[in-house]
Amino acid sequence: MNNKTQPYNQLTDLPPNIDLDSAVLLKSSIKASRLLAELKGYCQTLPNPQILINTIILQESKDSSAIENIVTTQDDLYRAMISSDDNAHTSSAAKEVLMYKEALYSGLELLKKRGLTTNTMVSIMQKLKNTTAGVRTESGTRLANPSSKEIIYTPPEGEELLRKKLTALENFIHDDADHIDPLIKLALMHYQFEAIHPFADGNGRTGRIMNVLYLVHLNLLPLPVLYLSSFIIKHKGEYYRLLREVTEKKNWNEWILYMLKAISETAALSLQKIKEIQQLKEEIIVISKEVLKSSYNRDLVDLLFCHPYVKIKTLEQNKIGHRQTASTYLQKLAKANVLHPMKLGKEMYYINHRLMKIISN
Ligand SMILES: Nc1ncnc2c1ncn2[C@@H]1O[C@H](COP(=O)(O)OP(=O)(O)O)[C@@H](O)[C@H]1O
Ligand SMILES: [Mg+2]
Repeated sequence: MNNKTQPYNQLTDLPPNIDLDSAVLLKSSIKASRLLAELKGYCQTLPNPQILINTIILQESKDSSAIENIVTTQDDLYRAMISSDDNAHTSSAAKEVLMYKEALYSGLELLKKRGLTTNTMVSIMQKLKNTTAGVRTESGTRLANPSSKEIIYTPPEGEELLRKKLTALENFIHDDADHIDPLIKLALMHYQFEAIHPFADGNGRTGRIMNVLYLVHLNLLPLPVLYLSSFIIKHKGEYYRLLREVTEKKNWNEWILYMLKAISETAALSLQKIKEIQQLKEEIIVISKEVLKSSYNRDLVDLLFCHPYVKIKTLEQNKIGHRQTASTYLQKLAKANVLHPMKLGKEMYYINHRLMKIISN
């Protein structure tokens, strides 16, 4: 029996000694795989998926951070994304969300170079926390219930032990001779990483980044586009309860089913959103051609999908046109209701409001 207030040094390496091929688990996994494959297939038909998924990845960053009570508004976040110069006005939560997104992309590069290794995990955490700290060396890290402050879990302690457990996890992740269903493996891996809790902070976010990277690593997705945190934030109580029940009651089944359902639902959701964004983009291209005539510029439309909030300066910085030209473009698109002008602070922003509606629903 695990004592919540004592370091859980007896945490065992994966895989657990349970039936991972049971009909219920496999049935749920097949459904999730099918939906993921649909999402993957659709992404592969898109000429420029990176532009369409940029905002979805940012929403994932926002929600994954919100699970840790780092909460930002859409206004703050999207303004922060285009304000390299006036950083002083950016809220710290918005900055953290942007760092999360950077950490995810840098993790993707590291993944291609060296896989999901301990070093990759450490680098992701360092990027997102903007720190040089690594694996915990001190004791005293505890997980408390966010509202009652009651201690719910004390992770293992001792740097050597933590590193040993991370190496075992790394080997498990890269072992493809074990014939465990890959999505079931993802659920096991996410629990294990959170149970090791190798860092003083940033474990939840690093673990959730690893989940999407793992899908890319296995080529189940071409891009880290799964909006997984939208499910977790909606079912956060369950997320906490089930992580605990694996430790306390070896209740793996319910945990694995929870993660498989999260994958199914969010694969369908991500697919629907990308389709809607693609359709909106086609409509906006048509309207922009009408409105801007011979000065129509494809890069401008791409920009409006990468950055749903723009200022005149954003267009200048992206070499769409000089101040006067940029201003004319934006005004014309606002008149055609493609963009919604809005004054925030002293600055005028032009918002791709239909895109915002799709991503924030
Ligand atoms: N009982 C538990 N056992 C293991 N991990 C847990 C448990 N409850 C919650 N967690 C994980 O711990 C995360 C919070 O850890 P923390 O290091 O503060 O993450 P972050 O810094 O990203 O905020 C949660 O998001 C969850 O993934
Ligand atoms: Mg935290």
